[in-house]
Parts: sequence; C-alpha cells; structure tokens
Amino acid sequence: MTVSVTSVNVEKQLKGRDFLTLADYSKEEIAYLLELAAYLKTERKKGEEVQPLKGKTLGMIFEKSSTRTRVSFETGIYQLGGTGLFLSSKDIQLGRGEPISDTAKVLSGYLDGIMIRTFSQADVVELAKNASIPVINGLTDDYHPCQVLADMQTIIECKGNLEGLKIAFVGDGNNMANSLMIGAAIMGVDISIAAPKEYQPKQTFVNQAKQFVTNNKVIVTDDPREAVKGADVIYTDVWASMGQESEQQKREQAFADFQVNDELMKLANAEAIFMHCLPAHRGEEVSAGVIDGGQSVVFQQAENRLHAQKALMAALMG
Ligand code: CP
Ligand code: NVA
Repeated sequence: MTVSVTSVNVEKQLKGRDFLTLADYSKEEIAYLLELAAYLKTERKKGEEVQPLKGKTLGMIFEKSSTRTRVSFETGIYQLGGTGLFLSSKDIQLGRGEPISDTAKVLSGYLDGIMIRTFSQADVVELAKNASIPVINGLTDDYHPCQVLADMQTIIECKGNLEGLKIAFVGDGNNMANSLMIGAAIMGVDISIAAPKEYQPKQTFVNQAKQFVTNNKVIVTDDPREAVKGADVIYTDVWASMGQESEQQKREQAFADFQVNDELMKLANAEAIFMHCLPAHRGEEVSAGVIDGGQSVVFQQAENRLHAQKALMAALMG
C-alpha cells in the first residue's frame, strides 16, 4: 500500500481513539479507513493476511442479537492476529447490575479494545469515558456506524467513488438512517430520507448531519417517490428494530406505502444499486424481487463488514 504523508498523519490521529459515531470522524479519517479496508480485502483475496494485532484481544459485549457484527468482528480480529471474546451481557456481571464504569475499568486491564452493541448510546459513551482502551459502537438505538463504513466501501466498489452520488433511504428513521445521513453528509454524498412523518429521524440527528454538508444535501421527506428520483443507491432497513418488536403491527400499517419494490426502483437511476444492512423482511420493507434481484448488493455489503471493521480495529488498536 502506498503511504502518503497525509495517511501517516491520519494513521497517528486514529491510534487509541473510540468509534462511537461517525460524527467524531473527519472526511479524511473515514477516507483513510476505507482505503485500508480495500487494501485488507485485496490482501485477503490473495491469501495473504496482514497481522498487525498479534497478541491483542477484543472484548465484544452484546445486549442485543447479532449475526454479522459478531461473526465479522470475531473472525476479523482473528485474521489480524488477535483474539475475540464474546461477552453476552446475560453472562457477565453487567447484566446483573455491575456499573458500566466499573466494567470499563476492569476490562481495560485485560483487553486491547471493546466492541459493544446495546440500547442506549449514553451507555456506550459512559463505557468509553471510563475505559482506557478504544471502544467501538457495534449498534445502539441511535447509531450503527460500523455498518456505514462497510456500506461506503461497497458503494465505492460499485460506483468508483462517493462524492457527487445520491443515496435514498426509504423506511424507518432509525439508527441506520441516522448513521447513513451523517456518513453521507461528511463524505459529500446527497441523501434523502423518506419516512412517514411520525417515523422520521429526530431533528437532533438531522441537524448533526447538516453541520457537515458542503455542496451536498440532506433532505427528509414523506414521499418515497421524490426521494428515489435520481438516486444511485436505494437503501432500506426493517420497520421495527430490535427492542421495538411489540410495535410490529402498528409499524406495518404506518410503513405500507414505503416498501422498496420494482415500481419504486424504476424511479431511481437505471444503474442504481439496492442496499440493506440485513436482516431483511421480504414482503415488508423490501420485495423479494428487489433484494434477490440484479441490482441488489446486500451480500457484498455484508461481507464488507469484515474488511471495514478489520481496518477500524487495525487503525484504533494497532
Ligand atoms: N447488519 C447487522 O448489524 O447485522 P447483525 O444484527 O446480524 O449484526
Ligand atoms: N435497525 C436495525 C438494524 C439491525 C442491524 C435494528 O436496530 O434492529
């Protein structure tokens, strides 16, 4: 990999940092992580693992379920030369009420990094504040920044670049929508979020994203057809996120006109790709025809969780 003066400086800036939201990262830092992710992916495809984290351990705290995040972090740290520890909150004392601050201090004595998936963003901030090692947000009710790193890598692979593109996110104004909006705003991508009025992203996240825009736009609308016009990427996510299972029926009604199907895809650019963080509910937020069709890149996106998070761990914990 060619190492420029800028990337040497960025590399230094990233060591030891937390990754709690993309809003804490500059365009240059995100671009560096994406370049590193592409490099690690190429090396792995050649059969050559880069191992900057020999002897290092990542603890992975899960208060919510996961397939992709767990497996990509655990295999990722292993491929980088280290070890991953799966810590279900049900089985550690955190789940029985041990304070987050004590947990952070104790784990900092054993580990080299912590990934946490939980409900409250404030808990992740509290963990990071009390830990002396990098803390990575593996999803909260507010954000899913690791997913967006992998998404950006996928978009670059499909479209060659990010700047000047348009993403349309159709569905719930949830953690995915928030992180995608912030990531797009930082990276110079236009983004339109289409959601029913009562399910649009909270104004604080919209304002947060808007503070990063330069020539690009952040738009929130309740018209999915308007949102997808001229879009290069159509993105959706489940209507009821983890923790909202009891609202499933109510949400199915509210989102009935927000399904990504062939009819909606036709209104986007002819070359548009379809993205979804997964898990998906076919027949709800997306038709089977679209997610299993030729424009869908969802499995490429899922694979890139591995490469993007390896880049993140190598940069923060290396
Ligand atoms: N996209 C994603 O984070 O998937 P998991 O919930 O399976 O980790
Ligand atoms: N919005 C979804 C994303 C899952 C990866 C959830 O929080 O359940």
